[in-house]
Amino acid sequence: MKKIDWENLSFGYQKTDYNVRCYYRDGKWGEIEVSSDENINIHMAATCLHYGQEAFEGLKAYRCPDGKVRVFRPEENAARLQRTCRGIVMAEPPTELFIEMVKKVVRLNEAYIPPYESGATLYLRPLLIGTGAQVGVRPATEYLFMIFVTPVGPYFKGGFSTNPYVIMRDYDRAAPLGTGTYKVGGNYAASLLPHELAAEAGTPERKFADAIYLDPKTHTKIEEVGAANFFGITKDNKFITPASESILPSITKYSLLHIAKERLGMEAIEGDVYIDQLDQFAEAGACGTAAVITPVGGIQHKGKFHVFYSETEVGPVTRKLYNELTGIQFGDVEAPEGWIVKVE
Ligand code: PLP
Ligand code: COI
Repeated sequence: MKKIDWENLSFGYQKTDYNVRCYYRDGKWGEIEVSSDENINIHMAATCLHYGQEAFEGLKAYRCPDGKVRVFRPEENAARLQRTCRGIVMAEPPTELFIEMVKKVVRLNEAYIPPYESGATLYLRPLLIGTGAQVGVRPATEYLFMIFVTPVGPYFKGGFSTNPYVIMRDYDRAAPLGTGTYKVGGNYAASLLPHELAAEAGTPERKFADAIYLDPKTHTKIEEVGAANFFGITKDNKFITPASESILPSITKYSLLHIAKERLGMEAIEGDVYIDQLDQFAEAGACGTAAVITPVGGIQHKGKFHVFYSETEVGPVTRKLYNELTGIQFGDVEAPEGWIVKVE
């Protein structure tokens, strides 16, 4: 294994030693297989290639100061993957299989779990694809479920530091009753061009980290960021995050709703976040497994840049939420029941 510069890792792929795989054939899941191959061999008529029968997940393993390795809420990822499977008619990996594969792939790649306080973590990418051949638009009868891992640094520049975002008014990432709520590749395909245009819309002084999408039905409410959910802290100290049928139900977002209410004593709401009412917010953030909490410095909309707390400084409530969330993930702060799975 070559030496890794943990402190300077980006959110990118790098080879690790093993991935784990399980095939669904003849109506049942097989045995877990361990592989060192980074490639997969699939039929050219596989439904994942033609009809988007593809789903993925994202979760992390944390090396903790007590020497243990913890994974954050993997049962929630299993449940979300199963929900996605029902949404696009794929075979559902059972929760026990999911958890067993998570633990196995983390154990096998122990050497790639970044040290505590390096700013990096081990990212797990579960992937489920329809491998059976079809030419008509129909679900496959065969599937491959696999998990690979890669050590990662911050998703947005600077990690826990403010980033500017921009509303791309000419693009939606999902349809009102479409697949936005599922973690399927097509939603991310739809976000690639707006993401590039968002980067081009910035200036050297204000480089937009990503696009923020409005609700596809009325284009009046904030939905989410291309790769994360959105939250705001109102001037009267409420935690508000968009309620929508077309956004990804973020596990980090639900964790923050709980933390805001139970640990910080705030009112925590899933509700409407109107784009013309940003003045109600004292702070704002993007949240997700990859994003963790990335403070939103400001949002550009119709040529105007709205600053929340500060374009460069992190607000106090965002900081408290971050400390509590990452404290739980790294085992420094007591976790709510069932949130942590130790890998021993
Ligand atoms: N929204 C989108 C579009 C995402 O890709 C992600 C990342 O998984 C999230 C939100 C955050 O979800 P989670 O907190 O479960 O990682
Ligand atoms: C995650 O946070 O796990 C994501 O899936 C976001 C992005 C890397 C697609």
